[in-house]
Parts: sequence; structure tokens; C-alpha cells
Amino acid sequence: MESREAVPENTDIRIRKATGAEMLRLWGYSDVDTAAPTARFFHEQIADGNAVFWALDDSGEIVGELYTFLKLEDDNFADGHDTAYLCAFRIKDKYRGQGYGSRLMKTALTELKENGFRYATIGVGSDDLHNISLYRHFGFLEKVKDCHDDPCALDENGQPVYEEAAWWLLKKDL
Ligand SMILES: CC(C)(COP(=O)(O)OP(=O)(O)OC[C@H]1O[C@@H](n2cnc3c(N)ncnc32)[C@H](O)[C@@H]1OP(=O)(O)O)[C@@H](O)C(=O)NCCC(=O)NCCS
Repeated sequence: MESREAVPENTDIRIRKATGAEMLRLWGYSDVDTAAPTARFFHEQIADGNAVFWALDDSGEIVGELYTFLKLEDDNFADGHDTAYLCAFRIKDKYRGQGYGSRLMKTALTELKENGFRYATIGVGSDDLHNISLYRHFGFLEKVKDCHDDPCALDENGQPVYEEAAWWLLKKDL
């Protein structure tokens, strides 16, 4: 069984919105000009207000992330009014399995609902049984379609990264 260092009990953990600059730092970039295309895209979308970076913050250190995109080229992912797309959902290893991912997800979904959105979508590998089960638990019960192009991962030409193996776009009612 995997062993993890425990999160200290006196830790000050909260969920907040973070900036594009914080995303760059978290992803290991010193500035936007030298960042990879995907990071530049996230930075631009956060600055434009089309994406929200939800961060799990432990005493000033970001230890978890989840992004909501309000509008993307493919309306099945995000159409700007009814449907929003969630991606890059990650919690630092030692914080996993303690309900923080769930709290981050609930916070992001609650704000979308308050802003009038009716559906949320999320992508998952078709063979990623663990995360398929996790997303089912979160209520992503409908499979919208098989996908090959990731609208939020860009290659060197600024085009969506093509994945040979199809992955699933899932959807939930808010
Ligand atoms: C996915 C991830 C963000 C989840 O965060 P986490 O903090 O470990 O998740 P939580 O501890 O909040 O658990 C989430 C909820 O799902 C439940 N759950 C966990 N694994 C589950 C599974 N395989 N099937 C069903 N439910 C599951 C938990 O019981 C919990 O439910 P609750 O809040 O209603 O009690 C985290 O594990 C991670 O960073 N994984 C690596 C990156 C990754 O795979 N991201 C997803 C890409 S598709």
C-alpha cells in the first residue's frame, strides 16, 4: 500500500481563486514569455476572465488546482452560458484522499451554478477506471462523446494536442 507523509494538523488550508502568475509559478515557469503554449493559453484565459483558477492553499503554498473554462471553441465542452469545462484537476500527493479534491470540485461547481451555468463537463482517459469512478461519484454520469483533441492543451503551433487514444468527455447537471 502507498504510504504518504501526513498533512500536519495545525495547517491553514483554504480554497481561493488564484492568478495566472501563480499558475505559471506552480507549473515551473518564471514568466509568460518563456512558458509553454498550454501555460500561455491558461494565463491568457485567466486574465481575460474566461477561466478561473481554483487553488487549494496551505499557508500560502498552492497544493491543489482545478480550472473552469466558461467558453471554448467546441460548445460541447463549454458554451459560455449553460456549459463550462473543468480541467487540470490535481492535488499534491500528500494531500490526496482527505477530501480536499472534493472540496475544490464543490467550490468550483457551486460558483458555476450561482452564475447561471446548468452543466459541467470534464475529460477522462477511457482506460482511467479510477478517475472514471471518481467522476461518477462527483455526478458526471453522462458521456458526451469520445475526444481526440484537447482544447486546453496546445502544441508548439498553438493547436489542440491530438491524442491517438480516445478519451471521454463527461457531463453533469449542476
Ligand atoms: C483526482 C484528485 C484530484 C482527487 O483529489 P483527492 O483530494 O484525492 O480526492 P478526495 O479525497 O476529495 O476524494 C474525492 C471523493 O471521491 C471519493 N472517491 C475517491 N476515489 C474514488 C473512486 N475511485 N471511486 C469513487 N469515489 C472515489 C472519495 O470518497 C471522496 O468522496 P467524498 O468527498 O464524497 O467523501 C487527486 O487524487 C489527484 O490529484 N490525482 C492525480 C491527478 C489526476 O488523476 N487528476 C484527474 C485527471 S482526470
